[in-house]
Order: sequence, then structure tokens, then C-alpha cells
Amino acid sequence: MELTREQNDMLDGKYGKGVAYAMKIQVAVGEAFDAPRMVPITRAHVALSNQEADLWFAEKMLEGGAKCRISPTVNPGFCLSYFTEHHMVPKEYADLMQRTHNAYKALGATLTYNCTPYVATNIPHFKEIVAYSESSATPYVNSVWGARSNREGANSALCAAITGYVPEYGLLLDENRKGNILVEVKADMKDDSYYHYLGMCGKKIGPGIPVFTGLPEEISSAALTNLGAELNTSGAYGMYHILGFTPEAQTMEQAFGGKEPERRVEITFEDLMDGRDELSCEGHRDIEFAMFGCPHFDLNQVRYIADKIGGKKLRAEMWILVSYHVKELADRMGLNEIIEKAGGHVIPDTCPDQPCWGHLKGKYGVTESPKCAYYPKRRGINFIIRDLDTCLEAAMTGRVE
Ligand code: F3S
Repeated sequence: MELTREQNDMLDGKYGKGVAYAMKIQVAVGEAFDAPRMVPITRAHVALSNQEADLWFAEKMLEGGAKCRISPTVNPGFCLSYFTEHHMVPKEYADLMQRTHNAYKALGATLTYNCTPYVATNIPHFKEIVAYSESSATPYVNSVWGARSNREGANSALCAAITGYVPEYGLLLDENRKGNILVEVKADMKDDSYYHYLGMCGKKIGPGIPVFTGLPEEISSAALTNLGAELNTSGAYGMYHILGFTPEAQTMEQAFGGKEPERRVEITFEDLMDGRDELSCEGHRDIEFAMFGCPHFDLNQVRYIADKIGGKKLRAEMWILVSYHVKELADRMGLNEIIEKAGGHVIPDTCPDQPCWGHLKGKYGVTESPKCAYYPKRRGINFIIRDLDTCLEAAMTGRVE
């Protein structure tokens, strides 16, 4: 790989041990993918996980004197103030979250604790070169905004934020951004939940860059968020196109770069239901909780729930996970009050895959998101997956069919 003098100086330790370590990792990644050089980035998002391994890496960088050149936004852990005030998290885990906070603060990260930065706080422009980790973030910035990011891991995105560079390969290059699988959706996409189920069809779609056709003309940003999150739950996709909708797929010619699709796949209603059911427990049972916001819900989704449950009484606990700014707006607009009165909670900065949900262990709940069901399963928390309206009905009656 050809490095500039500055990049060589980074590698040689002239900018400190932490920067040298970050550059060494990035050069190794670049060489693995035959990247000819490093290119500058202007944005980054780090999918911190608040788990020991992630924290070990962040603290190692810090001990080496590293500081982010490009301040990255970061993923959720859990809301320390809420869960400690309500005695819902053991001290050991509260300490871990505090250490995560301290490490990323000292590294100079932008402490958003939100997994949908691409719709509010960290939005790249067309062709901007960025380094994003997080399953829904990478496909969103590539596909919807037309920005350029490889599927970074939390660690490689942090390295990029520290050095300010990424190796030039993969989705940063025009020739690797063309679709190769034509995915014809032959099912009615009844609401945004159905984009979760479409994303869960990764096994049928297969590896590559899908080009979706047959979708409605209007697609909400929440639906696109759901699609990206689940494409990386059922498979590994850095990018997709939607014909006539996403910016690099206005025509078939543009979407496929003038070539014939290598594969054609049809997605039927039955495929969507299979996608939904793959990670779902059996229905027809009483439930004790509902959880939404994996990925984090936006303000419209919070408003929708407030409208549906306002003035009623929930029979199951309801947790709605959002960014700090959606929480603030929900407070200001009285939505939070409506939801609290019904018995629900709007919680910022928090992910379902965190140790703050210990009280749900062994219980059954509902969600509209397969990704929400996927991670907590290993913590002994059970989910039945249904569309949002069915989940809301279940939270009100305490039973799902
Ligand atoms: Fe976000 Fe955590 Fe779900 S990072 S997408 S809320 S698993």
C-alpha cells in the first residue's frame, strides 16, 4: 500500500502509540483487500457494545494517547441514570457502562448512544467517504444517502475516527456498488414492520447487492432502517438498491451497471412470514411485556404509539427505545406523558442487548423487530414477533394470537 508521509509517520509512532496501533490495523485491512492507498474520511459511527472486548480495545487506544480526529457518533449501551435510579442493573454492569462512557468521552467521541445516527445527528451527503459500523447504519448511508462506507466493525470504525483515514477498497469504489441480484417483491408491504421481514429473507436472496423491485412508491425512513437492520441479521449486506427510489438505481441500467443480473429472486408473502417467524417464539399465549425500538424508534413511531394507547391501560410492560433527542421531543410534546399514563416507558440511549433487562429473563413478550428478538434470546428473554399494530393490541390485552 502506498502511504503518504503523514500516514507513514502515524504508522511509525510519531503521533503516539494509539494512533500507530490504529494505523497498523487499517494497513493490515487494506492489504487484505488489495487497497492501493488510504483516503480521508469526514464522518464516522462506532457501534460500541458496552461489552468487555469493545471496552478493552477503546481503553487500549486511550492508554496509547489516541484521540479521535473525526469525532464519531456512538451506539447505545444503556441509560445509566434511568436503570440505576430504578435499581434495575447490578453494580458490576453499571460500572461497565460508566467505564465505557469514560473511555469514549476521553477519546473524543460524540456521545449520542443511538443506533440510527443517519436520520438525525450524523447524516452524510452523496459520495461522502465515511466509516460506519452498525448493521442498519452502513446499508442506510450507502443505499439511501449514496455515501460510501465499507461494513466497518466497531474497532475498525474507531481506528478510522482516530487516524482520519480508511483503506480504499470495496464499497468506496464505483465498480463495487452495482447490484447483481434482482429481487422482485410480490407481496403487499402492509406497514413498516414488513420491511423487517423482507430484510430477514437474506438466505433466499443470497450474497451480493440486491436490487429490489415491486416496493411501494412511498417508503418511510423507518421502513428503510428496518430493511437494513434485518438484512444484516439474516445476512451480511453493505448496500442494496431500490429501483427508481435510491439514488444509484434510478434505472435498471444504472442499478446493474449495464450488466444482466446474476440471479433473480422472487419474494412472496409466505417468504415474508417465514422471515418473521424464523426468530419468533410460538404465539397464542399470554405476554408480560412489549419492546420496540431496535433500531431506535423515531418521533413519528413514538407519536403513533401514543395515539394508539393514549387513554388506555396496558396489561403488559411496554419499553420504547429511542435516541436522546427523540426522548426530549417526546417529553416536550407530551407524548411521553401519554405513554407513561398508559403504563409504557420511553427510554433513551438503550439497546435490548444489554444487561439492564435482567428482570425480563424467562418472560415472554412481543416486538415487531426480529433483531430485537435475536440478541436477547441468549439472555433468556423470549419474543413473539408480530406487526406493530398486533403488538400494541397484545400489550393492551396481555395476550398475543
Ligand atoms: Fe440498535 Fe441495539 Fe437494536 S444497537 S439495532 S437497539 S440491537
